[in-house]
Formats: sequence, structure tokens, C-alpha cells
Amino acid sequence: MTKRLFIFLLIFIIPFMVLKLQKFNVESPTVDPFDFAKEKENHENYLALFEHPEEEESEEGDGEAVAKVATNEAPIELTTEELQNGYHVYTKKGQCVSCHGKGGEGKVSQESPKLAAQHDWYLEKQLIDMKSGVRSNPKMNIYLKKLTEQDMSDVAHYLSLLPRK
Ligand code: HEC
Repeated sequence: MTKRLFIFLLIFIIPFMVLKLQKFNVESPTVDPFDFAKEKENHENYLALFEHPEEEESEEGDGEAVAKVATNEAPIELTTEELQNGYHVYTKKGQCVSCHGKGGEGKVSQESPKLAAQHDWYLEKQLIDMKSGVRSNPKMNIYLKKLTEQDMSDVAHYLSLLPRK
């Protein structure tokens, strides 16, 4: 009985193990070369998400939010309350600026598209579709959750008025 078992091991299991072990370690891991500039930019973009967190919190949901934004720094004149809110949403509440850039020029490194001077109705539709899941955009989900319908309309209007980049 033990002899048979031994033969069985010899004939089937040992060659099988040898073959397995030969394959082991054949594929050496491939590692992308470290790109300092790219890592630095990614890190900076990440940090930008946390800029002025105290102001963020105190502004949440109250009507004074708009007034607290330094509207004079905006690239266009914010003549109406809607535009002021659009600017507020873009730069603070929705943190869109961290991925899409100050002037809505987009960022290739983030794969985020240009938004400046796009039709407002198109932008608004994309935001509504992304928020409801009709258009899938996992990167923006957490930011869109915070926005009301009015916010989406205002930020779309604001972006449509920015000069084309
Ligand atoms: C974490 C990065 C990030 C943030 C923050 C972000 N976006 Fe985006 N956004 C993207 C990416 C990436 C895409 C492209 C998605 C795709 O390929 O479908 C995109 C796409 C869009 C589009 C669709 C553009 C088109 O031409 O179809 C709109 C509109 C948009 N973003 C507006 C906003 C607004 C408004 C905010 C702020 C509330 C915002 N985004 C915040 C990364 C971001």
C-alpha cells in the first residue's frame, strides 16, 4: 500500500510540483519609473482639496455664504447673486477649481476637461446627469452630493461666461 502511494507521489505529484515551482517567479514585477514632477502635482492637487476647511464648514448651507467669498478675485465681474453663488460653488463649496483650474481651463494630468465658455445648458445637464447617475463620473460624486439644483444652475452659468481658454 505505502509503495503504491510512493509511486503515485513520484509519478504525479512531484512532477506537478516541479512544474509549478518552475513557473514561480518567472514574471518579474514591472514598476513604473518614479516621476517626481507628476507625483508632486498629484500631491498638490490633493492638498488643494483641503484648503480653508474651517471656512468650508462655517459656510455650509447658510445664506451668508455668498457674501464671504472674495468676489473681487473672480476672473469676471459677478454682477448678480446667481453669479456670485456660481463663483462660490466653483471655488469653495464644490471645489471644482482643484480639478478644472481657476479659469475653467481643465487639467490634462487630472483628465478633467475644459469648462470655460461652454454652453450653460450643456454644463447644467451634465451636472444633473452625473449627480443622478445617468452619466457615470465617480471622481465628482462626492462634490456633486453637496450641490443643490440652484447651485448647479449657477455654476453652469458662471462657467459659460468665463473667457474661452
Ligand atoms: C476630483 C476632480 C474633479 C472635481 C473636484 C470636479 N470635477 Fe468635473 N470632471 C472631472 C473629470 C475627471 C471629468 C471628466 C469625466 C468623464 O470623463 O466623464 C469631469 C467632467 C465634468 C463636466 C462634464 C464636461 C463635459 O464636457 O461633458 C462638468 C460639467 C464638470 N466636470 C463640472 C464640474 C463642477 C461644476 C465641479 C464642482 C462642483 C467639478 N466638475 C468638480 C473631475 C473633477
